[in-house]
Amino acid sequence: MPSHLTNHVLLQASLWILASSSPAPTARRVFVAPHEAVITPSPVERDATRTYKNRRDILSDLDSDVDSILSNLGSDIPSYVASGVPNFFQNFPVGDDVVSSLGLQSSELAALPTNALNIDPYANWTSSGWNVRFHGNIYKQPNTSTEDLNKFANKFLIGVDITSLPESQQDQARNLTAEIMVVQQGDVAVDTIHLEPAPSQGSSGEPGGGGATEATGGTQDITLPYNTTTEGDFDVFVPIASNGLTAGNETQEVQRLNTYIDGTTLGNGTAYLVPPEGITIVSDIDDILRVTKIYEPKEGLLNSFARPFVPWENMPDIYANWSASLPNAHFHYLTTTPEQVTRNYMQFIYATYPGGSFDTRPLNFSDVTATLSIRKFLLQKVFETFPQRKFVLIADTSNSDVMRDYPEMAKDFPNQVQCIFLRNTTSTDSGDQFPYDTSGFQGLNQNMYMFFKDPNDLTNIDLASGSCYNTSIAQNLTFGYQGLPLGLGDTSAVNGSANKTGAASPLVSRDAAHLRGVCALAVALGCAFWMGL
Ligand SMILES: *[C@@H]1O[C@H](CO)[C@@H](O)[C@H](O)[C@H]1NC(C)=O
Ligand SMILES: *[C@@H]1O[C@H](CO)[C@@H](O)[C@H](O)[C@H]1NC(C)=O
Ligand SMILES: *[C@@H]1O[C@H](CO)[C@@H](O)[C@H](O)[C@H]1NC(C)=O
Ligand SMILES: *[C@@H]1O[C@H](CO)[C@@H](O)[C@H](O)[C@H]1NC(C)=O
Ligand SMILES: *[C@@H]1O[C@H](CO)[C@@H](O)[C@H](O)[C@H]1NC(C)=O
Ligand SMILES: *[C@@H]1O[C@H](CO)[C@@H](O)[C@H](O)[C@H]1NC(C)=O
Ligand SMILES: *[C@@H]1O[C@H](CO)[C@@H](O)[C@H](O)[C@H]1NC(C)=O
Ligand SMILES: *[C@@H]1O[C@H](CO)[C@@H](O)[C@H](O)[C@H]1NC(C)=O
Ligand SMILES: *[C@@H]1O[C@H](CO)[C@@H](O)[C@H](O)[C@H]1NC(C)=O
Ligand SMILES: *[C@@H]1O[C@H](CO)[C@@H](O)[C@H](O)[C@H]1NC(C)=O
Ligand SMILES: *[C@@H]1O[C@H](CO)[C@@H](O)[C@H](O)[C@H]1NC(C)=O
Ligand SMILES: *[C@@H]1O[C@H](CO)[C@@H](O)[C@H](O)[C@H]1NC(C)=O
Repeated sequence: MPSHLTNHVLLQASLWILASSSPAPTARRVFVAPHEAVITPSPVERDATRTYKNRRDILSDLDSDVDSILSNLGSDIPSYVASGVPNFFQNFPVGDDVVSSLGLQSSELAALPTNALNIDPYANWTSSGWNVRFHGNIYKQPNTSTEDLNKFANKFLIGVDITSLPESQQDQARNLTAEIMVVQQGDVAVDTIHLEPAPSQGSSGEPGGGGATEATGGTQDITLPYNTTTEGDFDVFVPIASNGLTAGNETQEVQRLNTYIDGTTLGNGTAYLVPPEGITIVSDIDDILRVTKIYEPKEGLLNSFARPFVPWENMPDIYANWSASLPNAHFHYLTTTPEQVTRNYMQFIYATYPGGSFDTRPLNFSDVTATLSIRKFLLQKVFETFPQRKFVLIADTSNSDVMRDYPEMAKDFPNQVQCIFLRNTTSTDSGDQFPYDTSGFQGLNQNMYMFFKDPNDLTNIDLASGSCYNTSIAQNLTFGYQGLPLGLGDTSAVNGSANKTGAASPLVSRDAAHLRGVCALAVALGCAFWMGL
């Protein structure tokens, strides 16, 4: 067994013993009230008087809790675990940190071109017309030397020196590092965003359709109503003029608009104008659409930083079929990967899967609790934006926030969740040693969800019928923690089928409080691995 894995297993077993006596951090949820179809308030204005706690202070609070537990173990815990939060995900430098790390002069900075990350938006149809959610970041990317990029890349990789990688992988790792070592531009205006009809899907190089047609109009220039946040982010719904666009209540089809932000490079994106009714497929990316192995941190890092992105088995065929057979479906890719690496994810998706709108983790969701709350925050936003659409939610079992949030969405928005599909990563990958909690699924109709092993298990499922369970796939739910060390929590699986009447196994119920403590802590540590990727 590779040493990082040994440590990983050992850590979990130790935590299981130790954490039963110590309260563990739990996720804080962020809820938003539904908005009217008007310009949303500026986060900058609303938070103008707020004193931001330095991220490092928040982290060091958590570090000291974790350190004190780990120091009792006296064992060979790798430093990225002992620090509570591995560098690659929490300590991405931003703004001034980058300026000082690279020793940049303000004149050098001023001379750099301004770049925009224009994350592909969705738009809903309201009484004021199409309402587009523009979101992204304004930043400058310094010209960093190869030596410096190697130095920083080595901080993000675990136990690997970049120079030991094949040349093409070194190149990619440096490119990604350069995307992280950028200087975000806070409190700047985002003007002008230019909109124009986008050619239909077929000719745009995104295979598999995506169910979008060329818009019938919509050419215009707009300026966002607020400046960027201190982190350089923008995220605001703006009603746009029709200028010949087809009304949302007169079409079932998704219309596409090209959008680009003037005066910036790289600021091109595609807006998806989505009618009020239809099916929206909300898909996670890591370990469901591509092979990441986020549960094996060292592999996960190499797969994210250095190696080319690889699709997971024949998932592209499954999506291509959905896109072709449900031409009005809307695809929305929602991942908690950090915003800085969004572009790599978009490039991979658009080359491999149907085109669609995108969400990644904005920069202000950076401490651990905010990291654990971002998925729900983004899910609520898209559900509230399309209250009459049906949603198909897809991910894998290695994300604790998915395991909590997906079934919660089915309970919070009972008329909107059509299907939940979860790849059981443990069933194909013994390297996945992290526990997952299936208790949220208790009480849900088996017809609406399925845990599955291979993409083929999704073949022939008719999303539109709402019958989402392939009866030939054994479900092994205990409605408690599964995948714990030593097989704890798995014992009540009933001959390969869920016990629909219900309760968790006696072991899990008796020790539920302890296990929750363990898992919350494991989550704090584990999610740091998982969610950074
Ligand atoms: C459009 O989206 C906004 C923002 O989420 C939401 O407040 C509004 O209710 C939606 N409008 C309709 C008609 O669904
Ligand atoms: C579509 O919505 C617009 C604006 O709300 C309204 O004026 C129009 O009558 C509606 N059209 C149909 C076919 O319902
Ligand atoms: C970036 O720096 C390298 C050497 O450090 C130099 O050769 C190159 O011209 C610079 N590029 C720009 C756009 O300044
Ligand atoms: C790295 O970035 C350069 C410049 O954008 C590009 O030409 C090159 O193909 C990239 N390499 C990899 C491996 O992504
Ligand atoms: C927004 O940023 C621009 C510079 O891009 C600045 O001139 C303007 O004063 C800012 N507006 C507000 C309301 O802070
Ligand atoms: C961005 O969009 C503009 C306007 O459509 C176009 O001229 C430019 O070529 C696009 N850039 C890229 C990189 O696609
Ligand atoms: C991050 O900013 C958004 C607005 O862009 C705001 O709604 C949200 O509450 C903020 N989240 C955190 C954790 O600060
Ligand atoms: C996932 O797969 C593992 C290994 O086959 C199995 O023990 C477990 O019960 C499965 N979990 C679910 C929820 O199907
Ligand atoms: C449930 O368990 C059976 C027997 O171990 C296994 O073959 C099957 O793949 C599991 N189902 C899932 C969804 O992992
Ligand atoms: C169910 O899963 C099996 C095994 O992966 C597959 O052959 C079959 O096509 C799937 N669909 C249905 C509706 O049975
Ligand atoms: C393709 O997707 C449609 C719609 O969900 C479904 O009815 C059909 O069975 C699928 N075909 C295959 C081969 O998976
Ligand atoms: C299923 O759960 C119910 C409720 O806890 C329990 O009474 C029953 O014995 C369980 N069935 C099996 C086969 O374990």
